[in-house]
Amino acid sequence: MRMTLSDAARAVRENAYAPYSGFKVGAAVRSASGRIHTGCNVENAAYPQGTCAEAGAIAAMVAAGDTRISEVFVIADAAEPVPPCGGCRQKLSEFAGAEVPVTMATTGGRTLTVPLGDLLPYAFDSGRMAGE
Ligand code: THU
Repeated sequence: MRMTLSDAARAVRENAYAPYSGFKVGAAVRSASGRIHTGCNVENAAYPQGTCAEAGAIAAMVAAGDTRISEVFVIADAAEPVPPCGGCRQKLSEFAGAEVPVTMATTGGRTLTVPLGDLLPYAFDSGRMAGE
């Protein structure tokens, strides 16, 4: 059976290393090639060194040779769907257009899907560094 983005994010969340926050997050991105890449949050005793699930999924995608994201799915055990942090919105926008759907889900089955451009309007990208 073909794994969905949702299944992949839910499964990788189980591997999250979150002994400090106790908040496990799973992320899955579909790249333009159609492949699914996953990541989970990996915390550290030196707290700022921890990494988000989305960052892990992006790193896995790039390591696999893909650089364009067509769909994002993030899941956590919370009452409401958890939106990606500001840093992860920026990381996603490096590889995903404003139209790319970002689905935020709870382990209980609630979902909210929003285009990346709504999560990060007026994003900074390489085009902003062009001269006048
Ligand atoms: N976290 C993520 O992995 N992704 C998000 O979008 C929000 C927050 C992680 C970071 C940290 O390990 C834990 O959730 C609590 O902030």
